Amino acid sequence: MEISLQNQVAVVTGASSGIGSGIAKSLAAAGATVVVNHSSERSLGEAQAILKEITDAGGNGITYQCDVSKEDQVIKMFQDTVSQFGTVDILINNAGIQKDAKFTDMTLDQWNAVIGVNLTGQFLCAREAIKEFLRRGIDTSRSIACGKIIHISSVHEIIPWAGHANYAASKGAIRMLMQTLAQEYGADKIRVNSICPGAIQTPINKDAWSTPQALNSLLNLIPYNRIGQPQDIGNLAAFLASDLADYITGTSIFVDGAMTTFESFSTGG
Ligand code: BGC
Repeated sequence: MEISLQNQVAVVTGASSGIGSGIAKSLAAAGATVVVNHSSERSLGEAQAILKEITDAGGNGITYQCDVSKEDQVIKMFQDTVSQFGTVDILINNAGIQKDAKFTDMTLDQWNAVIGVNLTGQFLCAREAIKEFLRRGIDTSRSIACGKIIHISSVHEIIPWAGHANYAASKGAIRMLMQTLAQEYGADKIRVNSICPGAIQTPINKDAWSTPQALNSLLNLIPYNRIGQPQDIGNLAAFLASDLADYITGTSIFVDGAMTTFESFSTGG
């Protein structure tokens, strides 16, 4: 059994670092041509480094700058991808940010920034991807599905998170976005799922792992007793995007070392 994404084109948002970069590498290793999206000029160097790793390993792709919270930029990213590669088969809706604050101190800018990237960005990219999937139709030389969308959500789509109301609200909403799209486009053979990572060692949560004390207290939340790596998410993304997962749609899969079993209950309750 082999995971193959040969002849397929994948757009991976927020692919210049963290979980997105791990997913971009996994999809490329499975044969997909990958659009390594990054949000700004500042992240171009990182995106180029990820693309170099991909091409050095024999894969294909391009870097593409687009702020996913901006409608005109998202429309253009999909138009340019289709003109360059013919179509899009896979969308990994990954770009995400945190702007943490105690709720009563949270500014509207912090709220809007997180909802803008994490939720509106996923809406805009999913809409353009689905329009392209429907335009192309099923092409079994590529995949038996018409298209695949994987939303990168979080354990915080079900775990409330004090001090992170904007982030948790965005992730909870992604669950309903994902399930609604799976329902609305199931008959068109478009598969839509979410991956919900737990604590993955990336820049977004550096404070939680960069000192031995912080890592120790983080591990208290993870029964499997290790922090996750971007590759842990990339492995599942490649499988979920492939035809091996053809009957999987409309669901959230947690990749979290059992964080969602609520470790604190192992000695209480
Ligand atoms: C957040 C991380 C956090 C993890 C587990 C993720 O969605 O982005 O900052 O470490 O959830 O709490």
